[in-house]
Amino acid sequence: MTAPHRQASPRRGAGLRREAVLATVPVAVAALLAAAGPASAGTIGASGAGDPYFPLSGNGGYHVKHYDLTLRYDTTSRHLDGKAVLTVRATQKLTRFDLDLKGLKVTGVKVDGTAAGFRRDGQELVVTPRHALRKDQEFRVTVTYNGTPKAVTDPDGSADGWIRTDDGAFVAGEPQGAMTWFPGNNHPKDKSSYDFTITVPKGRTAVANGVLRGQHTANGRTTFRWHQAEPMAAYLATATVGKFKVEQYTTSDGIQVYNAVDAREARAAAPVLKKLPSVLKWESKLFGPYPFRAAGSIVDHAPDVGYALETQSRPLYDSAPDVSTLVHESAHQWFGDSVSLTAWKDIWLNEGFATYAEWLYSEQHGGDSAQKSFDALYARPASDHLWAFPPGDPGSGKNIFDTPVYARGAMALHELRQAVGDQDFFTILRAWATEHRAGHGTTAQFVKLAERVSGKDLDGLFHTWLYQQGKPNKA
Ligand code: ARG
Ligand code: ZN
Repeated sequence: MTAPHRQASPRRGAGLRREAVLATVPVAVAALLAAAGPASAGTIGASGAGDPYFPLSGNGGYHVKHYDLTLRYDTTSRHLDGKAVLTVRATQKLTRFDLDLKGLKVTGVKVDGTAAGFRRDGQELVVTPRHALRKDQEFRVTVTYNGTPKAVTDPDGSADGWIRTDDGAFVAGEPQGAMTWFPGNNHPKDKSSYDFTITVPKGRTAVANGVLRGQHTANGRTTFRWHQAEPMAAYLATATVGKFKVEQYTTSDGIQVYNAVDAREARAAAPVLKKLPSVLKWESKLFGPYPFRAAGSIVDHAPDVGYALETQSRPLYDSAPDVSTLVHESAHQWFGDSVSLTAWKDIWLNEGFATYAEWLYSEQHGGDSAQKSFDALYARPASDHLWAFPPGDPGSGKNIFDTPVYARGAMALHELRQAVGDQDFFTILRAWATEHRAGHGTTAQFVKLAERVSGKDLDGLFHTWLYQQGKPNKA
């Protein structure tokens, strides 16, 4: 975490492996199979959200409005006890639906207080309620579960989910890992509010998203209650546990800051975390008001993780970040967290934007200009890995955190800026964050917005920078 120029380096695990090709069961096939059941045709929620990169992530047939998660983690035995109460709305008639949950033991499932049938099928927890649920019906699902959570290995070789550390757990769920610690609808298409009640041994701190509602110690344990009001994708939820030094304050803009820092990282982290209010202020000027009422950082000591994550309202770092990384994860609060993906293929909308925010920060704080960052990358030969695939179409889940997404994604934005000029460019960035705030956005919508603001036909530019194979020629 000491390299001065991280712009071109994606924040992912070092253990990149290249052998894994996703065994894809296209969701259309899954849907056909589901629909084939003669008695219940059309009333079974799909096992996936329709994302070809992660076909089983998320589910069909419902929207989770709210998660109420009650967790107890024993940092010695590594045992997790969990109870999840989901407030759900059916988007179709449902005689059966899936939640995503990987590992752990489920001891009971209730729907509206009545015991429901359930079975495990890989990462699917298949729930059969006693009575069919009507389209638009609101209902509650209660799942009790326990066990030793285990991280998943992503197609790129990195670990994701509940990652144990020497003093607790580093809990980061992008793209798949939320299902390693709570049952839910594990795809960014579905966003929900959250409550967390997390009990850990006294002396440890459990840090989740949003504002701290309360904390009390009894019988050698401390319980932390967190509330995340603004809608959040499951992968951005955290319940990181460790021995942390805690700092709390409110910024001049009324944002409630909560920082939790592992003592081993405290000295290196301090000067960087001090900049958080000014970074958020600077980003608010560029991108529009900060989208959440809470902010902060979790700086863990998790040397095997190899990446940071923009956990909503409170980014999570595996070690003390540099300023560029703080700027990157903070920019994600607008781009990725408030404005969410509808498909992992569009990941450049998160990573290209957060990387470009680093370039802009440097440019406006006495460092290299964005043009210089662009030029340094463009100078790389056609054989360089930077040009291995186009950022708008990474091809599979294995590539979503790879250099072309981050660096060429940022280059695409720089080319847009060159084409439309600074005034329209910054109007576009701000309009994107404002118009899709607390919602979703697709690449097609971004292109449309850029064309609307600038009055220019930008299809050629975006085609070249987002979709064309190989190193683009300069116009
Ligand atoms: N979104 C994170 C960042 O760029 C990277 C997450 C990488 N996750 C992973 N499983 N490799 O800040
Ligand atoms: Zn990022």
